[in-house]
Amino acid sequence: MNNRVAVVTGGIGGLGSAICIQLARAGRRVIAADLHGNPERVARFEREVDGLDIRFAPLDASDFDACAAFVAGVEQAHGSLDVLVNAAGITRDATLRKMDRAQWDAVLSVNLDSVFNLCRHAVEGMMARGFGRIVNISSVNGQTGQFGQTNYSAAKAGMHGFTMALAREVARKGVTVNSVSPGYCETALVAAIPEDIRQGIVDRVPVGRLGQPSEIARTVEFLAADEAGYITGANIPVNGGLYMGF
Ligand code: CAA
Repeated sequence: MNNRVAVVTGGIGGLGSAICIQLARAGRRVIAADLHGNPERVARFEREVDGLDIRFAPLDASDFDACAAFVAGVEQAHGSLDVLVNAAGITRDATLRKMDRAQWDAVLSVNLDSVFNLCRHAVEGMMARGFGRIVNISSVNGQTGQFGQTNYSAAKAGMHGFTMALAREVARKGVTVNSVSPGYCETALVAAIPEDIRQGIVDRVPVGRLGQPSEIARTVEFLAADEAGYITGANIPVNGGLYMGF
């Protein structure tokens, strides 16, 4: 188990970095794949994870060919890619009547196409080696819909359909595919919501607070464990009770 290699897309983001840290503490070698747009952000991440087996790798997860090269590179350098966490995500919130094509395309390509791009290239090796753990970071808003998020809600709901379909395809090969649907957590994405709207959301959370990224990361680690081989095609909500369904 200690030799397992994990890739986390959106790896230096709010949820992604917490997931990297949790997986590394559980003994995985972790590659945090993310855009290299902001060198200061990368440097801050590298300071934060100093001493852990985590390295940053530049990747635009919405670029199909870049993902092919990236997966091949990981397999060549580290021998395998065993755990894939698709956590790359952005928002471009607007009501549909104000949403332009670019806002739709950006959210669908970063949040949903990226899942296809990475899984498409990673499953081959996982199936051949007889082991793989794929965890897709969806959202409560993919379950309930959210005002101003037709793009994001569509992408996040789509991720779970993808999860269930792929789970069936790879189940006999030791590969599990699950999604985690976080609620509102303490991340930059949520901090960017106008204060009055954010407070209104927190007021509706039964637990009475935003989630901690580490609480999402703990769930991901659980699903990524070697012992989690009988959980597949599932969606685990981690939302403080904001949405209770089954
Ligand atoms: N429900 C119903 N009506 C609402 C509403 C809501 N939640 N919010 C606003 N409205 C109403 C307004 O009162 C206003 O009504 P009137 O026209 O009668 O005055 C109207 O809708 C405003 O419509 P607009 O198209 O003009 O909206 P806007 O441009 O002012 O703002 C928005 C739209 C930018 C999407 C804004 O509502 C917003 O930022 N919402 C927050 C969206 C959100 O929660 N995003 C989550 C981001 S975090 C995340 O996604 C992480 C995760 O996975 C959980």
